[in-house]
Amino acid sequence: MTATKEVAYEIVMTSDIFDPDNPELGKMPGGGVSGGTRLVALDEDIERLFGGRIRRYFTINGIAVEYMVLAGGDEHKTIDAVLEVSSRLNRIGTHRVSTPPIGIGGGVLQDVVGMAASLYRRGIPYVRVPTTLLGQIDGAVGAKTGVNFEGARNRLGTFAPPPRTLIDRSLIATLPERQLRSGLGEVLKMALIKDARLFELLEQHGPHLVADRLQDSGALPGSPQPGLEVIRRAISGMAEELQKNLWETDLQRIVDFGHTFSPLVEMRALPELQHGEAVAMGCVYSAVLAANRGLLDTGQRDRIIDVTRRLGLACSHPGFADADLMKQALADTVQHRNGHQHLTLPTAVGETVFVDDITGTELEIASSYMADLLAWTTNADPATEAASAPPAGGLR
Ligand SMILES: NC(=O)c1ccc[n+]([C@@H]2O[C@H](COP(=O)([O-])OP(=O)(O)OC[C@H]3O[C@@H](n4cnc5c(N)ncnc54)[C@H](O)[C@@H]3O)[C@@H](O)[C@H]2O)c1
Ligand SMILES: [Zn+2]
Repeated sequence: MTATKEVAYEIVMTSDIFDPDNPELGKMPGGGVSGGTRLVALDEDIERLFGGRIRRYFTINGIAVEYMVLAGGDEHKTIDAVLEVSSRLNRIGTHRVSTPPIGIGGGVLQDVVGMAASLYRRGIPYVRVPTTLLGQIDGAVGAKTGVNFEGARNRLGTFAPPPRTLIDRSLIATLPERQLRSGLGEVLKMALIKDARLFELLEQHGPHLVADRLQDSGALPGSPQPGLEVIRRAISGMAEELQKNLWETDLQRIVDFGHTFSPLVEMRALPELQHGEAVAMGCVYSAVLAANRGLLDTGQRDRIIDVTRRLGLACSHPGFADADLMKQALADTVQHRNGHQHLTLPTAVGETVFVDDITGTELEIASSYMADLLAWTTNADPATEAASAPPAGGLR
């Protein structure tokens, strides 16, 4: 037999989400009223920063909820956390449809709560409110949930898009600068694979975007708002790519750019590296591979390295300088992509090709470049590091 299920889910941009007069947070997906108590899962930092306002919101609006607080950070993205959420759903008597839980937090909380919701009673609707830049421009757009398992990133997980996602840009104003930069790593990926204008925005406004947390503070109505444009372009670029391949039946995905070599480094380095930091390095590594193959102009490679630095992101890490680790990472990815490399390489800013024949020798040469980049970064004056590309002559 065959059966088809169409999915539709909404991503709503809103502001002042915890203002009791803003109905968005309390709305049921698809309308209607709640049939009982809903679980509100809060990231621990969200609890600390907004816990009082969130409680006030639900109290004033007369919505019956119970709260639970979960730790952020990838080391907490575990099956135990999923079971803990499932247990709370059970204890408060969550219904099949009419009491959808709400997850307010970063990508880790969304992955955990989403996975619990997708398993509970074989799947219940939920609402996600991402509170990190990474969560807003990436996880929030897609359909995937998951947890790390036995040292592998997202080894257990499900496809379960929630019917409703709410995005309030002002929530990321409280992010630590490092977190914000990490999110920009994923924005950089999006720019490199398909959006030259987005790359130019990062190139022109990088340090300002970081310092201002993409809030466009001080911008007058009608004046350019690079923060808003960056978020909008990143979300719509992601949505466009995912819409045509939501279930990943096509394993050639340009959105996996920067995610071939980085997962293993990220997992090995936990909790030293944040996701977007590792992705940015993965983008640089791919640019290096592409330049070494003659697919990408070396000037463009250096431009990519320069913009990465302007965002305050490191370009290299000992993991990327370790050719054996890179070979293992590629082998892991080939398994994940069903026997193919399907490696996205940049040919220009905003343009890519897929290759399937990267050799061990190419990885060794690229890793050696990453080692030089690392040495250069380590020796560079941090004050000037963000402003210039590495000396071309000193690098292979
Ligand atoms: N399912 C998907 O499609 C998808 C896509 C992208 C990323 N992810 C996953 O997301 C995770 C990374 O997400 P992340 O970077 O948001 O990590 P995270 O959820 O751990 O959040 C990072 C840190 O920021 C804190 N925080 C959250 N919101 C805050 C706020 N508004 N102000 C201050 N601090 C805040 C958290 O407590 C945490 O310490 C990875 O596990 C990655 O695999 C999933
Ligand atoms: Zn990612």
